[in-house]
Amino acid sequence: MCNYVFVLFVVGSCLTHGSLASNLNEAQTGDNSDDPAQDERSLVLPESPRYLQRRATTVLYDDFSSEPENSYVKNGVLYIRPTLTVDHFGDDFLRTGDLDAAGAPCHLHGKDIHPVMSAMLRSYASIRYGKVEIVAKLAKGDWLWNALWMMPKAPAAYGGWPRSGEFDLLEAAGNRHYIHGGNGKSAGIDAAHSTIHYGASTEHELRPGNTTWLHGTTFGDGFHKYWLDWTESHAIIGIDDHPVVTLTTPHTSFWQDGHFPGDNFFLIMNVAVGGDMFWDGWINSPYPKPWTHGAAEQMHQFWAARHLWYPTWHGEDAALQIRSVKMQQY
Ligand SMILES: *[C@@H]1O[C@H](CO)[C@@H](O)[C@H](O)[C@H]1NC(C)=O
Repeated sequence: MCNYVFVLFVVGSCLTHGSLASNLNEAQTGDNSDDPAQDERSLVLPESPRYLQRRATTVLYDDFSSEPENSYVKNGVLYIRPTLTVDHFGDDFLRTGDLDAAGAPCHLHGKDIHPVMSAMLRSYASIRYGKVEIVAKLAKGDWLWNALWMMPKAPAAYGGWPRSGEFDLLEAAGNRHYIHGGNGKSAGIDAAHSTIHYGASTEHELRPGNTTWLHGTTFGDGFHKYWLDWTESHAIIGIDDHPVVTLTTPHTSFWQDGHFPGDNFFLIMNVAVGGDMFWDGWINSPYPKPWTHGAAEQMHQFWAARHLWYPTWHGEDAALQIRSVKMQQY
């Protein structure tokens, strides 16, 4: 019997990686209905955005605020779409504006305001072992970073990342012409990265992962299924019908490599823009990456180059489009 979990989305406040789960409410679990049709209905994203709470994240580095243009449902598809901050707040905002996010330490002023807003949606529901399936078409455009991932509800309960683990079902750059500086392969929108992170400490992090490439098309040109099958004996991440990362639980469990899995995991779906996911030394065409990793001015370097990257965002092609999300507790 399947105990499906309803997926609702929750606003976050201006939190960083390590504290993502701190303001989650209780998981809202579905009934134990035996009627598959009813289960199926309950799993499809609600038509009405009133069930969703939105949040504009930012972007270069973290997330904040909340604007409806950044996440909305249209014809049964959920869109997560980055937009320019000046388009919402006016041209002077990046010099003289004030922005309060939903969590207290998130007041930003003038030049500290991120030039792009986006959304990060997180599920109230969480599971420990189970199945997750997301059918999505990825955002296409330079320096967009698609992410479908799962974090433990209390990531610090056993001493901080990566001890409690992280599932990255999908991460992909939206760039059309972007080459890995090391292996010369594409690292753009035709390349989907899937990774599991865990381990006893950041120095001893284990990260089994794989990249899946499409040929002659991209993950931004059609809907694909991104999934996780997680049992006591294994965790498998897959794309469409193919398992791409398989982690087999050792006889002695993972417990000695951190405390994975010690906790329920919730789902996060977001599009970030710019930031540290894009490495210096990787090759973008037809112009190089317009900011320097770690530079104090990196956000402004990025914004100053908007005449290069913004024309690569073509309407809703630059949105992560999600047709359905299913989470099933085994
Ligand atoms: C990555 O893919 C290769 C080829 O399919 C496979 O042999 C390997 O086990 C995969 N790695 C992981 C960690 O699953």
